[in-house]
Amino acid sequence: MHAATLLTIAGLGLLSSAQNLIRDPSVYGPALEVVHLYYDEFPTGIAVSSKGRLFSNYPGGLNANDTNNGSNGRYTIAELVSNTTERAFPSTQINSPPGGAINYTTYPPSGANYANYFIGSQSIVVDSADRAWVLDTGRVLTPNGTLVGASYGGPKLVGIDLTNNTVIKTIVFPTTVAFSDSYLNDVRFDLRANLTKSGQGVAYITDSSVEGRNGLITVDLGTGESWRHLDGHPSVRPVQQWLGYVWGVALYAFNPGRPFGFNSFGSDGIALSADGATIYYKAVGSRYLYSIPTVRLRDNSATSEVMAQAAISNHGETGITDGMETDTNGFIYHGNMEQNSISFFNPANGTDTLFVRDPRINWVDTMSVGTDGYAKPSNVMYERKLTCLPSYLYFTVNQLCFGAGFYPGTDRTVRPYIVFRVKLPNNGTKVILK
Ligand SMILES: *[C@@H]1O[C@H](CO)[C@@H](O)[C@H](O)[C@H]1NC(C)=O
Ligand SMILES: *[C@@H]1O[C@H](CO)[C@@H](O)[C@H](O)[C@H]1NC(C)=O
Ligand SMILES: *[C@@H]1O[C@H](CO)[C@@H](O)[C@H](O)[C@H]1NC(C)=O
Ligand SMILES: *[C@@H]1O[C@H](CO)[C@@H](O)[C@H](O)[C@H]1NC(C)=O
Ligand SMILES: *[C@@H]1O[C@H](CO)[C@@H](O)[C@H](O)[C@H]1NC(C)=O
Ligand SMILES: *[C@@H]1O[C@H](CO)[C@@H](O)[C@H](O)[C@H]1NC(C)=O
Ligand SMILES: *[C@@H]1O[C@H](CO)[C@@H](O)[C@H](O)[C@H]1NC(C)=O
Ligand SMILES: *[C@@H]1O[C@H](CO)[C@@H](O)[C@H](O)[C@H]1NC(C)=O
Ligand SMILES: *[C@@H]1O[C@H](CO)[C@@H](O)[C@H](O)[C@H]1NC(C)=O
Repeated sequence: MHAATLLTIAGLGLLSSAQNLIRDPSVYGPALEVVHLYYDEFPTGIAVSSKGRLFSNYPGGLNANDTNNGSNGRYTIAELVSNTTERAFPSTQINSPPGGAINYTTYPPSGANYANYFIGSQSIVVDSADRAWVLDTGRVLTPNGTLVGASYGGPKLVGIDLTNNTVIKTIVFPTTVAFSDSYLNDVRFDLRANLTKSGQGVAYITDSSVEGRNGLITVDLGTGESWRHLDGHPSVRPVQQWLGYVWGVALYAFNPGRPFGFNSFGSDGIALSADGATIYYKAVGSRYLYSIPTVRLRDNSATSEVMAQAAISNHGETGITDGMETDTNGFIYHGNMEQNSISFFNPANGTDTLFVRDPRINWVDTMSVGTDGYAKPSNVMYERKLTCLPSYLYFTVNQLCFGAGFYPGTDRTVRPYIVFRVKLPNNGTKVILK
């Protein structure tokens, strides 16, 4: 090396150690509290009941070790019973399909067809009437990491009464709504009676399939009918050659027995506006945030699809996001994983704002707002007019991007996976639509 170059390098070293250079502060916003540490299965979702009970789901569709094989005791839904332990919910039995979650008598192997058992759940959500709903994809991974197709009976929405932990409703999706290669990802509820003739409210679901059709599904919770909209529309699709980065690492896709490629996660995160009038949605494999009036999703008439496509709003890029959530401020909270952060989109001014940032944040999977701040006693918990203290935003940080589904295809996650919570701004709390 030239002597002058060596001198310059030495000089730079002296300069940087002699000065306080501006640097990334890494931390921003209200303090994060650690609520739960997972040492057993790999979680994605987190749900909080009005009494503060916590529930998670563990998708066998994302981690082959969590696929119930009939004798390994794996569960796909659990209650978080202490700071570091979980227990199958609502029972071990419903989490244990006889013979396991995979039907090996078909070729290729397929998801078992039991409507009365959980196969592989990607979401659990507590609605405005304090009932838990389990969204089952009907799909899991084989031991070599191949995602099996669903069979009728697998993909379903199961409602659970939290006062006695019993199943109150099972809505099985027809194969024209949940295809065998669909991946039912996340769900939001609006229980207002005047939305439907049957008067029991609706659910809105994302299909995030990496290999099939993406779209939004609407369910009439009274009749059990369901239908799809926006199938294949660019707003529910990943963008071509999408490449995210978390903690500086490029997130290429790994598929067993195939060259590595680009991830193609479709519509995944979904949030209902505080007035129930708008659904916000986002594909993981895209940085764009979109919305659509919910009336367009509830409509299933002959012209409903063209009207739905005409009603989509594009709010521009808001970073890389998995789950999303709303509060009474009307903010749409979402992970911005490349920034180790959670931001919120404010529909009132059309812009995205940093909320919290922390080096412990990696893959922000799912969010859930509690009712912690509502005035006590608990029988008036849902009275919106009451003065209240802020509730918390709960969210899972699960290192999904360091798992076996990403290049180089080995599990590089380090337990424990985490649930954090953080106080909402301006006394924000859970939106109640019933
Ligand atoms: C199920 O998994 C357990 C634990 O990993 C293993 O010991 C057992 O052989 C598996 N059984 C089947 C039927 O694959
Ligand atoms: C669980 O965590 C909470 C909050 O950090 C703490 O107050 C409590 O003592 C912990 N409980 C146990 C059994 O460790
Ligand atoms: C497995 O597949 C066979 C053939 O389609 C079917 O008859 C059987 O009911 C399936 N069993 C389960 C548990 O999915
Ligand atoms: C559980 O509670 C619900 C609502 O109160 C009730 O309809 C149902 O019958 C109860 N189930 C059992 C098994 O007690
Ligand atoms: C449904 O009822 C709510 C009040 O619960 C009202 O604000 C809303 O405008 C009604 N919606 C329709 C479509 O009638
Ligand atoms: C993985 O296992 C499935 C089911 O047993 C089999 O059909 C497939 O060929 C295997 N794939 C690889 C890449 O080994
Ligand atoms: C948009 O609204 C949020 C919440 O009130 C606020 O923090 C942010 O600064 C606003 N953004 C702009 C550009 O005004
Ligand atoms: C599954 O468990 C095995 C044995 O403990 C471990 O080596 C492997 O990394 C695990 N795979 C995943 C995807 O967690
Ligand atoms: C939150 O509620 C408390 C208690 O009612 C009140 O004192 C405080 O001013 C409120 N804060 C905001 C930002 O509205």
